[in-house]
Amino acid sequence: MTPIIHKAEVKGKQGQNWLYTKEVKEHFFHPKNTFKSVEEEEEFEKNADGIGEVGSPACGDMMRMYIKVKDGIIVACRWKTFGCASAIASTSILSEMVIGKTLDDARKIKPKDIVQKLKGLPQRKIHCSVLGDKALQKAIDNFEKKKR
Ligand code: FES
Repeated sequence: MTPIIHKAEVKGKQGQNWLYTKEVKEHFFHPKNTFKSVEEEEEFEKNADGIGEVGSPACGDMMRMYIKVKDGIIVACRWKTFGCASAIASTSILSEMVIGKTLDDARKIKPKDIVQKLKGLPQRKIHCSVLGDKALQKAIDNFEKKKR
């Protein structure tokens, strides 16, 4: 019988450990600000002020992010991804970081800030943190374009 894996650490091909921090595991196993169903997403989309969608050329994964904005402040940020654990954790923590921020301050958040907040990602997973960041920038662009 195949043993059940309880740990989130993975051995690389060269035997190296891919260590995931407590923060990454928390946001991967309990992602924040996602949708519980397609219907919930469709409902949220109807009233979203900005939508951003990006794909990662590095791995082919994709990300869609929705924001709601009131008086220049991001009051809600929801998302979904077909991405890896690192993309899920990165975007989950990013969605928490941006709620309550002005659009200008949200724009200033960089992938390195997300990685820092997660207390690190394995080196080969750093690109996954870019996915959420790019989707957010696009969602803000989309909001600003609609306002013109
Ligand atoms: Fe594709 Fe992480 S490997 S987003």
